[in-house]
This record gives sequence, C-alpha cells and structure tokens, in this order.
Amino acid sequence: MACDDGAFASFAARSRRCLPRLFADYVDGGAHGEWTMARNRSAFRQWGIVPRGLRDVSRVNTAVSCFGQTWKTPLMLAPVGFAGMLHSDREVGGARAAAQCGVGMAISTFSIDSMEDVAAAGAAPFAQIYVFRDRALTRDMLARAAACGIPGIIVTVDTAITPVRERDARNGFRHLSRPTVMQMASLLRHPRWLAGVAARGVPRIGNLAGYTTARGVMAQAREMAAQIDPRLDRAGLEWLRQEWKGRLIVKGVMHPQDAAIAMACGADGLIVSNHGGRQMDPAPATLDVLPQIVEAVAGRGDIVLDSGIRRGGDVVTALALGATAVSIGRPWAWALAAGGQRAVVAAINVLSQEVTDVLGLAGLTDIPALRAQGTDALWKM
Ligand SMILES: Cc1cc2nc3c(=O)[nH]c(=O)nc-3n(C[C@H](O)[C@H](O)[C@H](O)COP(=O)(O)O)c2cc1C
Repeated sequence: MACDDGAFASFAARSRRCLPRLFADYVDGGAHGEWTMARNRSAFRQWGIVPRGLRDVSRVNTAVSCFGQTWKTPLMLAPVGFAGMLHSDREVGGARAAAQCGVGMAISTFSIDSMEDVAAAGAAPFAQIYVFRDRALTRDMLARAAACGIPGIIVTVDTAITPVRERDARNGFRHLSRPTVMQMASLLRHPRWLAGVAARGVPRIGNLAGYTTARGVMAQAREMAAQIDPRLDRAGLEWLRQEWKGRLIVKGVMHPQDAAIAMACGADGLIVSNHGGRQMDPAPATLDVLPQIVEAVAGRGDIVLDSGIRRGGDVVTALALGATAVSIGRPWAWALAAGGQRAVVAAINVLSQEVTDVLGLAGLTDIPALRAQGTDALWKM
C-alpha cells in the first residue's frame, strides 16, 4: 500500500521516520500475502466519477448524518489498536482532532487511553468492543461505556482468528514485552518517540488493564486477545443486543447474508470492512461487496465502508455505491504518528477538501444529491 497512499502519502512517509520499525510495520502491514490490502486500493480504480458542468456549485455541503450523529464530512476515524503508542497525544488527541473537524471517531478496545478518558475529552466517540469469552467482563465493558456516555458500540466480528501478519512476525511485534537487543536498538534509535511514550508513564491498555494482571502493553494485549470469543454467532449477537441499549454497529461485514443476520439481530448499522486487509487474505475489496450489502440492508440502517480509503474520490465513489459514510484506519494512525493531534486535523482537512472538490466537479452540491444520483455519477472503467 505504501506505493499509493493518496492524500496521506506525506503522513505515511513521516510516520515511518518517526516510529521504530516494528510500530511502523504494525500499522502498515496486512495478513499473509497482503493481497487484500492491495485489492482494497485497486478496486477504486475500476470507477471514474463523471465531471459535470453548467450547474451552480458555488456552495458544496458535505455534511451527512450517520449512526445518529451529524458529521461535516462523511468520515469517521476507525478503531486502531495501540494508536496511543504512536504519539504522546494518544487516542484522546485523535478524538479531539475528530471533534475539531466535526467527523466521527471510534476507539479500539485495545486503546492506550481508556474510553472514559476519550469520552471525557468531549468527542462523543463510539467504542469498538469485542465479545469476550468471559461474558461478565464483556458486560462490565458495556456498563462502563454506558456510564461514560458512549453513544454506540461497534462490535467487530472479523477477528475470530488472528492470522499471521508477516511483518509483525519478522519483527517479533507480539513479543515486545521482553525486547531483544535488536528491538531495543530500534526503539532507542527513535528517542523522540520514546520520550513521548515514556512522558505519559508506563503505557498500558487503558480499556483492559483492570481485567488482567499482566504487565506491559504487549503482555496485556496477548492475554486479552486470547479472550476474544471465536464462538461468537447469531445467538451471541442477540445476547449483545439485549445487553446494550445504545446504538449497536456491527463491523467487519463482507457478505450480504451476514448483513441480513446482523440487521435481524437488531443492529442499527454496519461497517463493511475487511479490517484493512489485516484479517482474511485473500478477500474481496470492500468496494466490490458493498452493492450486495446495501441491497441486503435495504435502508434499515447506515452503512459505513472502510479499507483502502485514501482520496476524496474514493469517498464519493463509496457513497455513490450506497455507503452512508466511510472510515479510515491507517491514514489517521500515520498522521497521529507524524505529528499528533495537529497532524490528524490536517489529514482530515486534506481529505475533506478533496471530497468537496470532487463533489463540486461532479456537479453536485450535497451528499443527498450524490446519493440520489447513485451509480449514474460513476463511470465503470
Ligand atoms: C494498526 C491498526 C490497528 C487496528 N486495530 C483495530 C482494532 O483494535 N479493532 C478493530 O475493529 N479494527 C482495527 N483495525 C482496523 C480498522 O478499524 C479499519 O477497519 C482499517 O484500518 C481500515 O482500513 P485502512 O487502514 O485501509 O483505512 C486496525 C487497523 C490498523 C491499521
């Protein structure tokens, strides 16, 4: 993906300079042969957006309502585990950037800042949660989410198994709790990053530290990742629906039947995602499966698409094919690593501007007009 990082290329390059290699590779990498990751990008090349003239586009409004919120741009920051290890601004910085730009934000179960801290920053974040084998623990996380005013939870369903990510395996990423000499050397070569991380005390997984006696982020992550319930099925989702009274969003849906099951279980919306190519490899691109899922949902809930969004044109294409909005994972992680909250604001602004440009050049002045136009706005290459 590094060859085509779109509007975020400079953030991606800078993040590789700022981060020790094993963190940079953790962000950039995907599962197995990384074919899914590549396909997520190439899928957008199948579509052009037809330029239209002779219309008043002096004002273009990109606002959208999604998952019960109004976003100035149809964009959400996706949950990114360990984002808080990338910069001392941590997830709270990401959430503040999202709030500043008026876009959505979701924090990962595996975040360094806790959901309580992020919610207190005033960003109304969604909390991504896993259903753990220990349902009492899952219930406790839901109670915490409700208590701190989280408007909705995002349950990720594409992680029943953790595939090999070869870059992480090469770097020994999951065994960082006992760093080797090589790993230590790599961390020490980035003193600014190290000082930033250390300045906030010994990092821990803020959301989960209370449930484990393991010390150190990686040991905590290993123990808690083993808790993710691989038996999660329809009954499990129904259980979650009963337990959580707020908005329920199912993330990682790639098949229309799964979409139908999620909606039948009472989901309020879906995220069409292949985890940015970090889980199933080879999988189809999210853009390719989107139309079938839109059909299966039949207007019963909002649909966000992620995996490979890098340009304003990608956003417009996804919306023309039926998505309500999109989300980005690596792009905001790169920006956070490159320059903290300020850089995340800059990255969101770059993408927002591109959406405005493309919408206007397509002769459209707002998102409802784009949705009404649908695939008529597109050209199959
Ligand atoms: C470093 C990294 C960590 C991630 N951690 C999580 C996570 O904890 N929970 C989750 O549901 N998705 C996680 N994702 C997936 C993202 O939420 C999102 O689906 C994906 O990044 C979208 O693809 P993109 O990176 O091409 O934008 C992670 C992605 C990255 C890059």
